[in-house]
Amino acid sequence: MNDLSALLYLVASVLFILALKGLSSPETARRGNIYGIVGMVLAIITTLVMPSINSHGMILLGIMIGGIIGTGIAQKIAMTAMPQLVAGFHSLVGLAAVLIASAALWSPESYGIGNSGSIHVGSLVEMSLGAVIGAITFTGSIIAFAKLQGLISGKPLRFSGQNMLNALLGLSLLLFLILFCFSEAKIIFILMVFIALALGVLLIVPIGGADMPVVVSMLNSYSGWAASGIGFTLGNPLLIITGALVGASGAILSYIMCKAMNRSIINVIFGGFGSNSGAAGGAGAASADDRPIKSGSAEDAAFLLKNSSSVIIVPGYGMAVAQAQHALREMAEELEREGVKVRYAIHPVAGRMPGHMNVLLAEANVPYDSVVELEEINNDFLTTDVAFVIGANDVTNPAAKSNPSSPIYGMPVLDVGAAKTVIFIKRGMAAGYAGIENELFYQDNTMMLFGDAKKVTEALVKSLKG
Ligand code: TAP
Repeated sequence: MNDLSALLYLVASVLFILALKGLSSPETARRGNIYGIVGMVLAIITTLVMPSINSHGMILLGIMIGGIIGTGIAQKIAMTAMPQLVAGFHSLVGLAAVLIASAALWSPESYGIGNSGSIHVGSLVEMSLGAVIGAITFTGSIIAFAKLQGLISGKPLRFSGQNMLNALLGLSLLLFLILFCFSEAKIIFILMVFIALALGVLLIVPIGGADMPVVVSMLNSYSGWAASGIGFTLGNPLLIITGALVGASGAILSYIMCKAMNRSIINVIFGGFGSNSGAAGGAGAASADDRPIKSGSAEDAAFLLKNSSSVIIVPGYGMAVAQAQHALREMAEELEREGVKVRYAIHPVAGRMPGHMNVLLAEANVPYDSVVELEEINNDFLTTDVAFVIGANDVTNPAAKSNPSSPIYGMPVLDVGAAKTVIFIKRGMAAGYAGIENELFYQDNTMMLFGDAKKVTEALVKSLKG
């Protein structure tokens, strides 16, 4: 039985690795999801039939309650609220790690890790690490959720001596961890958990709204390591492997996102990016600038698009909010019928979550080969007739290159201004996520097309068809 379950666990682990590989590209993401689902079903069944499991009723009840709640949430959740949903789920993983570690400490016999007062030192190390990382993940994720959901301000909350306090708490955690492993004193364990809970809050409150995606992915990584630590306590190799996969992939994703936003992890943790007005997901402040702009109608834009030979569409957060992706695909098809070459340029942090634009375009059946990443397409704007920017702002803002005092300085941006004509679809002159003005709106070759992204694109399609 042990050999069989070890083999099945190995198969499930391979499926999880294939799932991660599949999720790394839009073409293979669906297949990746299926690998993940099959791996998880196999893992659950293998665990349930193990001789050491004798509370099937309770486990099935838990799966049922969790499944019903999860299905309800997944069906209702808006794509734009995905980051806070992920943060909310991570908090539960953290809490589970704390609870399992506590249960193991209070009832070591049930876990086969020794007797009360003489728990194996290795198990004490594992359970304390699991509990500490879990507690930091729990409160940190709750703060991230509250910031992203707008329940508390997304602005960085800073006070003097903050870093010193965090360093002191971190050091005391290390000290208590060593003391606990030597003494097995429950009071030290409780103290450790409380310090870790406080540290979770203190680590996340100074982080600005714009850095939240990186934070969510870092917390994702922490929750994986916490689960891995608990896998050791439970003697469950699959949990150790799965936790390590989540931990490592979360860390890699954080690195990729930091690179895309030109931020270092240290800057994310100690910086105040995102403190400007309009940050943290709010609609940006309206521009006080009264320089002239050129604005046009859907008919004007349809005329320009139809008479061009190449168009690059740049989707952003506004397209996601308006759910304009289907109308956009229809518009692209109309243009292609007219012989126009149409491609989509994807910025790695466009929207509000990693891969946001890819997911929406895939949902609208946009062909994968017309969706091109920033590095591959950026030089092509120079030879493009129309850059069609729909609900995007920060990811096109040239201040990222020209203004060292800008909060987005250093972030790679799409060079839409190099195209012959730039069309911006947005509702008004408001700023984007980072709360800063975009000089491109005032450029000679720019035409503003004001309105909701979906309604304007539908009007464009009608005009193209007409
Ligand atoms: P933003 O810079 O946020 O700009 C979006 C623009 O869409 C706004 O200026 C807004 O202008 C417009 N808009 C909103 N609703 C609209 C609607 N219904 N119809 C038409 N336009 C609408 O978006 P972006 O260019 O995609 O850049 C993303 C930003 O979010 C970056 O700063 C990035 O760092 C940050 N961020 C990214 C992530 C990830 S991982 N992708 C997560 C969190 C934050 P109006 O109000 O004038 O319409």
